[in-house]
Amino acid sequence: MPVPTLELRSVTKQFTVTGRPAFLAVDDVTITAHRGEFLVLVGPSGSGKSTLLDLVAGLTTPTSGEILLDGAPVTGPGLDRGIVFQQYALLPWRTARGNIEFGLEAKGVGRRERRTIADEYLELVGLVGFGDRFPHELSGGMKQRVAIARSLAYDPDILLMDEPFAALDAQTRENLQDELLRIWRTTGKTILFITHGIDEAIYLGNRVAVLTERPGRIKEIFDIDIDRDAVDDLRSSERFRDYRHRIWLSLRPEAQQRAVAGDVVGTVAHV
Ligand SMILES: Nc1ncnc2c1ncn2[C@@H]1O[C@H](COP(=O)(O)OP(=O)(O)OP(=O)(O)O)[C@@H](O)[C@H]1O
Ligand SMILES: [Mg+2]
Repeated sequence: MPVPTLELRSVTKQFTVTGRPAFLAVDDVTITAHRGEFLVLVGPSGSGKSTLLDLVAGLTTPTSGEILLDGAPVTGPGLDRGIVFQQYALLPWRTARGNIEFGLEAKGVGRRERRTIADEYLELVGLVGFGDRFPHELSGGMKQRVAIARSLAYDPDILLMDEPFAALDAQTRENLQDELLRIWRTTGKTILFITHGIDEAIYLGNRVAVLTERPGRIKEIFDIDIDRDAVDDLRSSERFRDYRHRIWLSLRPEAQQRAVAGDVVGTVAHV
């Protein structure tokens, strides 16, 4: 039996906005990420993806339901979870290496060891020679690599990633997807990855959970059974196209409703 690392049990999140009825963003979400699993949540804009990630990160608390990490309830943020946000949340006054060392300082790791670990992770994300650069001296893709290195360096059990490649160009995004898969295989981390892109979800995930639009509910979960090393151009393979079609169908009613309402932001992109 696979070991559950992260369990969401009937998680619901309501927001209270002054002068308005309570707003239901996430409704009764139950899902488990097993140890070493790459679990992807895919859903249209406003389906509560970031809200769910914030809940798992312990930045907010559920209105009802519970979130368990290795069986223990999440009560707040912790170094057992590494977070990579959509926008590069790097400290601008610190170098790439300094940013990676940040979480290690919080853990009380000594100066020399911090440097060794930071250099190790710079290498892991392909940034050897860039350790002394400040964020403004790095490209978007490089900044995102630093953010990934930072969240991995303090050795969290689980990596939470909120559309980390959404702001990047297609080529950089594909490179980083490959890099992330390599890191995942090397480290064996459990990853919870959020995206609105169907292709990205299939390319990365062991399992892909489709969320409905407002309020976010789990609509369907797909086991992605593809041998990533067997084909050269995975995204063009028959199997990949089949998953793409099935997930697209699963997402479609939501996308259509939004399109009818004239809200193009809700349309699910084929990225
Ligand atoms: N602090 C808040 N107060 C009130 N409403 C909120 C708050 N945070 C999020 N919401 C609402 O909850 C819903 C879900 O938001 P969320 O950011 O989780 O969506 P998302 O799936 O991440 O969307 P996107 O793909 O655009 O990032 C939205 O309708 C949003 O307006
Ligand atoms: Mg979001």
